[in-house]
Amino acid sequence: MNIQKFRIGKPFNTEAVILDFPIESAVPEYIRVDNEEGKIYISLPLDSQDIIYGLGEQMGGINKRGRKYRSFCSDDPYHTEEKEALYGAHNFFIISGKTTVGYFIDFPGQIHWDMGFMEEDKISITIDGTNADIYVISGNGENEIVKDFRTIIGTSYMPPMWAFGYQQSRWSYPDKNEINRIIEGYEKAGIPLDTVYLDIDYMDNFKDFTINQKAFPDFEKYVAELKEKGIRLIPIIDAGIKWEKGFDVYEEGAKNNYFCKDRKGNDFKAAVWPGICCFPDYLKADARRWFGDKFLTLTKKGIQGFWIDMNEPALFYSKEKYQEAVDYVKEYSGEDLNCWEFFSSRDKFTQLSNNNEDYKNMMHLDGTVCHYDVHNLYGYMMTKGVCESLPKDTLLFSRASYIGSHRYGGIWTGDNASWWSHILLNLRMLPSLNMCGYLYIGADCGGFNNNASRELLLRWMQLSVFTPLFRNHSALGTRSQEAFAFGNSEDFKKVIEVRYRLIPYLYSLVKKCAENNEMMFKPLGFEFKDKLSLECDDQLLIGDEIMIAPIYQQNKTGRTVYLPEEMTFVKLSGSDVTHKETLKKGIHYIDVAIDEVPFFVRKDKKVPLCNPAKNVDNLDITIAEYI
Ligand code: NOJ
Repeated sequence: MNIQKFRIGKPFNTEAVILDFPIESAVPEYIRVDNEEGKIYISLPLDSQDIIYGLGEQMGGINKRGRKYRSFCSDDPYHTEEKEALYGAHNFFIISGKTTVGYFIDFPGQIHWDMGFMEEDKISITIDGTNADIYVISGNGENEIVKDFRTIIGTSYMPPMWAFGYQQSRWSYPDKNEINRIIEGYEKAGIPLDTVYLDIDYMDNFKDFTINQKAFPDFEKYVAELKEKGIRLIPIIDAGIKWEKGFDVYEEGAKNNYFCKDRKGNDFKAAVWPGICCFPDYLKADARRWFGDKFLTLTKKGIQGFWIDMNEPALFYSKEKYQEAVDYVKEYSGEDLNCWEFFSSRDKFTQLSNNNEDYKNMMHLDGTVCHYDVHNLYGYMMTKGVCESLPKDTLLFSRASYIGSHRYGGIWTGDNASWWSHILLNLRMLPSLNMCGYLYIGADCGGFNNNASRELLLRWMQLSVFTPLFRNHSALGTRSQEAFAFGNSEDFKKVIEVRYRLIPYLYSLVKKCAENNEMMFKPLGFEFKDKLSLECDDQLLIGDEIMIAPIYQQNKTGRTVYLPEEMTFVKLSGSDVTHKETLKKGIHYIDVAIDEVPFFVRKDKKVPLCNPAKNVDNLDITIAEYI
C-alpha cells in the first residue's frame, strides 16, 4: 500500500481508519491552514480529462466533477438537483486521469467541496476546522486504490441471507390487521415477500423500545406467527428518547448521565416525532452500550432486524429557537409587512429544523465537545453501539453515516421521491457508496415521497432486483405502493421472482466483496478506458460477471446501451429466460418489456440462477441453471 498520512493540529479520533500509519513530517503545499479563520484549505489541480469518483451518498453523476457538495449529515427529504448534502458524510474521492490518486479527509465536522465548479481546472476543499487527518492513496488504478482505502477502514458489515429477499415497508402500517392485510395481498398475488417494516406508529407515542399494545396485543406471539410463515418484522428505532417523567428509558438515561448536554450543563432537548426528546450521547462508550442493549428487549421478542433513523440527528425545533421565532413575529402582529419583513418572519419558522445554533448548543462527552464540530459522527456512533449489542446475524441499517459505520451496518439512502430521475440517482450512488465500504445498500424502491405509477415502480424494481437491500417504502399520505396494489400484479410477480433466482449469486458476491474489500457495483470506467466507458453514467458493472443498463425514463419500451466488449444480453421474467443473445462491442438498442429484468453477462462468465421461492426461508439455493 502506498498511503501517506498528514496530520494537521490534534484531530478528534473518529475511528474511521483502523490501521496505524506513521505521520509525514511535512504537510504538502496544496494544504493550507488558516488558524485565524479556523479553516483548512485544500487546492488540487484538475486536468481537462480528469474524472472525480467518490463522495459516497451525494447528488450528481458518477463523475462528481463540475458541482459543489457538502459533508454534513442532513435530514433533507427533498433530494432536488441543487442539494449539496444528504444523510451521509463520506469524505473519500479519487481523481482519475493521467495519474490516479485517492484522498480521504478524516474530519468529523463540515466540509465544503468545490469539485471544479467555480474554476473548471481546480478542486477547492474547505474544512471547517483546523484539526484533521488527510490520507493520500496512490496505486495502480481505481480498483487498487479503493481496495487499499477499504483495507484501512475495515471490513464491511454483512447481513443475513434473508435480508436479500424482497421487503415491504410503509410509513406506516399502524397495526396487526393492516400488516396481515399486506401479507395476504402478497400471498394472494403469489408474490414473494421476506419482511414487513414497522415504522414509527408501532410504538406507544413514538417512544423507542415501547410497543402500542392496542395495535399489537401480543407482539411476541405475532412475531413468532409471522416467522412461521417466513416473514420477519423489522421495527424502526429513532435516535432521540422522549423526555417524559416516568418513561423508564428516559429516566435511566437521565440518571446515568447518558444524554448530550446543552451549554448550561442541562440535558440538551429538542423535538422530534415524540415531542421534546433527549439525545443519547453515542460518543460516550457507556451511553452507547446502554442504548444498544435496549435493542435486546426487542430481540428477546423474536425481532431479527432493525432500521435506525433520524440520527443525523434530525431536530424539528428547540423550545428556545421556537420562542425566538414567536417573539420575532409578535413584533409584526397587526402590521402590514413589506416583502422582506414577511420573508424574514416566515424564515424564522422554516429555519427551525436542524438549525446550526441548536447543533452548537448540543454538547458531547460531559460538555467537553461541541456537537457541531463532530456532527457527522452521531449516526455512525449510534450504529456502532447498536451493532455491538445485537446478536450476530441481525439485520441493521441506518440513515446517517460516516466512514467507519460500514463496519457495523448498511445504509438506505433516505427520503427520495417517486420521480424517474431518482431511479438514475439510485444507480449513480451505488458505486460511490461501495467505494466507501457500504455494501448492504438500497434506495426506497418506488420512491418515498409523491405517488408512484405502476410503470415507475416496475422499472425501478428492474434496478432494485440487483441492490442488496431491495425494499419498497413510501411516505404517509402517498398512494399504496405495494406490488399488489396496482391491479394486475402478474408483472410484479415476474420481476420480483427474478430477484429470488439471483439471491445465491448476489449474496455470495456481497460476501466476497466484504471479505476482499472490493466493490460490487463499479462504473464502467473502472474496467474500460475508452471514451464511452469513461463517460457512461447510466450503466454499471456488477462483480466480474454482469453489466446492467436499466430503463429509467417514462413511456420507453427500450433504451440505448453501450457494450465495451462482447456480452450476452439476457432477459429474465419469472422462471423464464425470455431472451439470450450475444451482442458485439458497441452501441445497441435493446427492447425491454415491463415484466422483464434485463442484464448483460460478460464474456466468458456465467451467472448461477436458482429457482424462485415465496421467501428466502423456502429458497433452495441449489443452482438450477447457469446463464
Ligand atoms: C424519516 C425516514 O427517512 C422515513 O423512511 C420514515 O418513514 C420516516 N422518517 C418516519 O419514520
